[in-house]
Amino acid sequence: MTDQTYYANGFDESISQTHSWRTAENCAEYMLKYVKHNYKILDVGSGPGTITKSFAKYIPDGYIIGIEPTAELIEEASKDPNLPYNVRFEKASVFNLPYSDNSFDIVHAHQVIVHLSDPLKALNEMTRVLKPGGLLCIKDAEMDSTTVFPKKFEPQLLYFMNLMRSKFTSSVGASRQKSLILQTSLLDIVRHTASSWCISEDKERLLFANMFIKRLEASKVNYISFTREKITQAWIDWSQDESAVFFILNGEIIAKKI
Ligand SMILES: C[S@@+](CC[C@H](N)C(=O)[O-])C[C@H]1O[C@@H](n2cnc3c(N)ncnc32)[C@H](O)[C@@H]1O
Repeated sequence: MTDQTYYANGFDESISQTHSWRTAENCAEYMLKYVKHNYKILDVGSGPGTITKSFAKYIPDGYIIGIEPTAELIEEASKDPNLPYNVRFEKASVFNLPYSDNSFDIVHAHQVIVHLSDPLKALNEMTRVLKPGGLLCIKDAEMDSTTVFPKKFEPQLLYFMNLMRSKFTSSVGASRQKSLILQTSLLDIVRHTASSWCISEDKERLLFANMFIKRLEASKVNYISFTREKITQAWIDWSQDESAVFFILNGEIIAKKI
């Protein structure tokens, strides 16, 4: 089993940059009402750490730890001069968490379980460090639900999105979540919801397209069906078309440790 399947070919900042628009408000709204001021939270696979840091204000008397197996990400997330006092980042893998049993009130993972080589092992380890009564909160995209409008851009953009996936990334990350939780023995589902990313406003489309063009430029993948130039042009034209939109469905599960 491989610990780091997402950056399997080594850390790539052009990829982690595409996650840095994310915050607790735009990615974890489904579970914010369960957060109490003194909670201890573990954010598994915290990436650039923007979600982790934005949790800080909800837990002024608690703390949050973001973990990542990749040292560069820990460095990048920790070097923020405005790092909140109750946030820290530590190098660790979800498959072997360096924390005692029953340590956290919430264990959170955003777009992590979908990319792992052994998602069930990860959920069991996340449950181990949860306090009894504590909440596991996971959110994952359903890659197969990706929809692009106008349809003329869809072949190029979906071809690119599919090529970027690691071989471990599930195409059914959202719809399989419930089945994974049911295979664990210590978790009861509290709430199961779905939401979608809808990249629609002019500035969102521009930001999204620019992030992915940078990622395309840095990628070492072989482009066969469409050239890099054709894909780049499709991103530019899509971002400049005011009728354009990009949707991805996400599954969100909150489960309580028995
Ligand atoms: C799609 S990114 C999501 C990052 C962040 N949660 C966000 O949404 O911005 C997936 C993250 O999972 C991390 N990851 C991969 N394998 C991991 C492991 N074994 N333990 C913890 N995190 C892991 C990757 O390094 C990557 O940062």
